[in-house]
Amino acid sequence: MCGIVGYIGTKNTKEILLEGLKELEYRGYDSAGIAVLQGDDFSDFKAVGKLVNLEEKTKEFITDKFAVGIGHTRWATHGKPTELNAHPHLGESSYVVHNGIIENYVELKRELQDSGITFLSQTDTEVIVHQFEKNLKTSENAFEAFQQTIQEIKGAYAVLLVTKSEPGTIFFAKYGSPMLVGINAENEKYFASSDTPLIGSCSDVNYFEDGDYGYVTADEIIIFDKDSQQKEPVFSKLSTNKLSAQKDGYRFFMEKEIYEQSTVIADTLLGRLGEDEILFDELPGDLFDGVNEIKLCACGTSYHSALSASYLFERYSKTRTSVEIASEFRYREPLMSKDTLFVVISQSGETADTLETLKMAKQAGLKTLAICNVDNSSMVRLADATILTRAGIEKGVASTKAFATQVIVFWMLSLYVAKSKNSLSSQKIAEHIALLREVPASVKVDDEMHEKLKRLSKRYLHGHGFFFIGRDIFFPLALEGALKLKEISYLHAEGYPSGEMKHGPIALADPELFTIALLPKHLHYEKAKSNVEELSARDSTICAISAEEFSKADDFIQIASHEHYMLEFFEMMVVLQLLSLEISVRLGNDVDMPRNLAKSVTVE
Ligand code: G6P
Repeated sequence: MCGIVGYIGTKNTKEILLEGLKELEYRGYDSAGIAVLQGDDFSDFKAVGKLVNLEEKTKEFITDKFAVGIGHTRWATHGKPTELNAHPHLGESSYVVHNGIIENYVELKRELQDSGITFLSQTDTEVIVHQFEKNLKTSENAFEAFQQTIQEIKGAYAVLLVTKSEPGTIFFAKYGSPMLVGINAENEKYFASSDTPLIGSCSDVNYFEDGDYGYVTADEIIIFDKDSQQKEPVFSKLSTNKLSAQKDGYRFFMEKEIYEQSTVIADTLLGRLGEDEILFDELPGDLFDGVNEIKLCACGTSYHSALSASYLFERYSKTRTSVEIASEFRYREPLMSKDTLFVVISQSGETADTLETLKMAKQAGLKTLAICNVDNSSMVRLADATILTRAGIEKGVASTKAFATQVIVFWMLSLYVAKSKNSLSSQKIAEHIALLREVPASVKVDDEMHEKLKRLSKRYLHGHGFFFIGRDIFFPLALEGALKLKEISYLHAEGYPSGEMKHGPIALADPELFTIALLPKHLHYEKAKSNVEELSARDSTICAISAEEFSKADDFIQIASHEHYMLEFFEMMVVLQLLSLEISVRLGNDVDMPRNLAKSVTVE
């Protein structure tokens, strides 16, 4: 995800900004840039790719006096990773860096273009700087213009803005994306989008809250809250441990990534939810014309999200859907017909088997779509169209937030197709959109639940195997739950359709067989319940996850009562992720880098 740094002081500003950006590298990025204002001189530098490219470009640039500077690492979401799209974005005499998404940028951009402003980039961010300069023409001062700009933009943002009309000042605003300001005994001021760049440079930091905005100079930090009331900064001591700061205080990257699912899902949804339609501006309008079948192809966790998608596409889009494991599809001389949309799903966009199937589909003349987390990856470059999942960099080898955002994209896509095929009424689509808006809240980790799973995990460290069982779309979720456990606990686990257990696997049932049963209240509850009862009758140890009390279980994990099975799906997903994590922790395994596994498998 993108990163922001800022600095006001007399030390070597260029070095401070570049060092700060290096500390944010772990978050992933595909271009970077800085802008520095020394007296009246504005300088900016941008480079695509790694920070060494930016270092190379700034080699001759000297910053040896009082300056204000801002810097950014960009993870492309709106527009390709090019120099023009890299931040900081320039107006006539101001620069801006931004994390997040400006939801109403299309309208604002249109208005600005109509008034004669030329845009250089494809980003949503550039509207901020032009809108600010437009407001500056009619305002008393730069702060008033900035305040007005913040009131006009909608979406999620952490913004820093510098302008010649107020040299020596950095304007800031935060809503939905993190941002902090740090101080030290030498009267310097540092900004960043997370703790890490400030460790070692600042003693105390103030974390901005949603709705905060204001400005900082060498002498003062002026903050206004969401109701435009001025407030005092609240400083806390900064930790000194960089690795733990990268993990935002969590024990493992996987844990951090489970916890941040609420935020990244909100990013995945941003700008894509209309009133009764899904907006995928990135898709060509005719992508689904003449498409009678959707074929989904992927590996690992992405394969499980594809399986989940098949239920949604057939149920809501009324479109025949098949799902393929990429390594199998490659060699089985598949029949491909041109009325099929071929969809590859990949967190990395580089998995060799999946990439190969995309090449095969292209060669066969099929329309292709990539659902991917990494812009400019091989699959994104090759496919006819792409939907980015916007999960940010995922460091834990066991995928969590990538899966969650993929399923969200598929849910939205099934509604997008439903609209064009008229297979769901506008009212039904609007209802789904309301549900989608509830997902970020439903995946927020509840402390009590996490504590319960920590305690429960000690009972599941042995045995001769786990069966994760579910019906319908909860079957792929069961597969994913079993995969998580296998990956990080090294215990044997299988995902199985609940109704299929009696056709063989039930022979294994005994107290040392652990069954993790997914029992959604809103989807085939009675049927799934009888399947679990059959296992319970044969003395399998049952751990049931449901909103409904279930007396036949040895352990019961109660989720919240939701109005729709998809919300139950997402809450159960979090439970399964945390359960695997806690079992792995108790077994003393390396949660983030499990043995024998790689994050991205670029060989066959
Ligand atoms: C590897 C990873 C899995 C991942 C799979 C597919 O095996 O360990 O976590 O699901 O690759 O990766 P992709 O990047 O294509 O989603």
